Amino acid sequence: MGGREPAVRIGLIGGTGLDDPGVLDARQELAFDTPWGPPSAQPVAGRLAGVPVVFLARHGRGHEWPPHRVNYAANLAALQAAGARVVVGLNAVGGIAPWMAPGHVALPDQLIDYTWGRTQSLWDGPGEMRHVEFTDPMDSGVHAHLCTAGATLGLPLTPRGVYGVTQGPRLETRAEIDRLARDGCDMVGMTLMPEAALARELGLAYACIALCVNWAAGRGSRGLHQEMAESMAAATGAALTLLRAALPELAMGVAASGP
Ligand code: HPA
Repeated sequence: MGGREPAVRIGLIGGTGLDDPGVLDARQELAFDTPWGPPSAQPVAGRLAGVPVVFLARHGRGHEWPPHRVNYAANLAALQAAGARVVVGLNAVGGIAPWMAPGHVALPDQLIDYTWGRTQSLWDGPGEMRHVEFTDPMDSGVHAHLCTAGATLGLPLTPRGVYGVTQGPRLETRAEIDRLARDGCDMVGMTLMPEAALARELGLAYACIALCVNWAAGRGSRGLHQEMAESMAAATGAALTLLRAALPELAMGVAASGP
């Protein structure tokens, strides 16, 4: 891999509504190639809440990569090459549980993977075989930092939840959402997997901030796209507020846990 001297430790993967690296101060464009090919977009280093971070737009700068075509491995590897050891993913979701209303933010602690045909592992061919432990898919330390920051803010925020990951790019049917609800899913989105599993394989401490932008199919009374358009700004604002509050403590935690 080529690129600049790694200096930052916290990586951010911005999803729909949060794919604008303009949220950062003192931006610096980086350039990395990875063993898994090019990332969706090149990472951008900068500061958020005064904390050095490196940001990557999951769907590309022009939102050109749909969820089932995102090169999740390359995205994570590019952030790691830029010095990230902690990665926070921001993921837009639809709400299934009654408390997961549009505008609400959750810090999911579990997931169920319904995706198919995506590269699920860095060890994808013949040769070495590894089975990473994934009982708790979020890094407990990063998740706890986000929960603590959220508790002090008084945001509409739930510090847990089960994220059902669907293949997309189409939205779900009413019956599919009923099934996800029976399975115990509180929210539905298309991007947490394989991102979380690949992060675990790469040794990155990963956690997700899920922002609800619509009621899942059949759960609301209005069109999903209308709801998304109306809720995106509030949900994005809440997620950024949480991130800004959490980053200083998170950075201290990363520094304390050594190189
Ligand atoms: N379903 C799947 N993914 C999503 C949704 C949804 O309703 N909203 C935002 N991402």
